[in-house]
Amino acid sequence: MPRRAPRVRRVVVRGGRPLRRGVGSGNAPRSVAGVTMAADRVTVVEHPLVQHKLTLMRDKERSTQGFRRLLNEIGMLLAYEVTRDLPLEEFAIETPIGPMEGQRIQGKKLVLAPILRAGVGFLDGMLSLLPSARVAHIGLYRDPDSLEAVEYYFKAPSDLADRTVLVLDPMLATANSAIAALDRLKARGAADLRFVCLLAAPEGLAKLAAAHPDVPVWTASIDSHLNEHGYIVPGLGDAGDRMYGTR
Ligand code: PRP
Ligand code: URA
Repeated sequence: MPRRAPRVRRVVVRGGRPLRRGVGSGNAPRSVAGVTMAADRVTVVEHPLVQHKLTLMRDKERSTQGFRRLLNEIGMLLAYEVTRDLPLEEFAIETPIGPMEGQRIQGKKLVLAPILRAGVGFLDGMLSLLPSARVAHIGLYRDPDSLEAVEYYFKAPSDLADRTVLVLDPMLATANSAIAALDRLKARGAADLRFVCLLAAPEGLAKLAAAHPDVPVWTASIDSHLNEHGYIVPGLGDAGDRMYGTR
């Protein structure tokens, strides 16, 4: 009999190795690389469609076109998971038969904040599920020697303080880019933030938890480690280059 995979699992990263936990496991704070964080701070989306498409993307023979299409499709599936707990409010409507109390998502429209370039790969898929979301663009690149994030562009809605912001980047490696993006968004008033990626390195998760313990993370996989060049192993290579056919 084929095994049915659970939809999502929560994990705790301790000392660089992911420790798997089932859905609904305790929410008690735990120590992670010297930082205390809730056990459900990291959600690995194990949906079979996500895992299947991710494996296709990792294949070094995948074309630029195929890579981009898959990233877009996974973006849509991750949007479904990351919005699972958004608060609803009652909303009165009339169906053709009569009145009813429906439900709608409470509060202002979400903000999608892709980190350029590769984060843009998630954008169309997410916007197809969240068509009225606002978009903040954050231009960052990793200095190849220091691996520090260098900002070259930032444009965001002015009322970030009132909105839930989903920060998008397929790769969480050293976490320098994610931390720089979150620092910048918080400096502009954002207080309700979520980080969505495709692959995360345990080192990056621990560093992100230390810098921004209030920001939960959704990922399709926690990979093994970073190599000496700061690349995720086994990873999928350079996401931006694979997406745009550069290099
Ligand atoms: C890649 C990736 C992330 C960053 C992750 O971007 O898209 O933004 O690296 O690495 P980190 O966690 O170590 O910061 P890159 O700097 O290559 O820019 P690009 O997307 O424009 O290619
Ligand atoms: N950025 C990428 O695109 N890939 C990695 O493996 C690490 C950082």
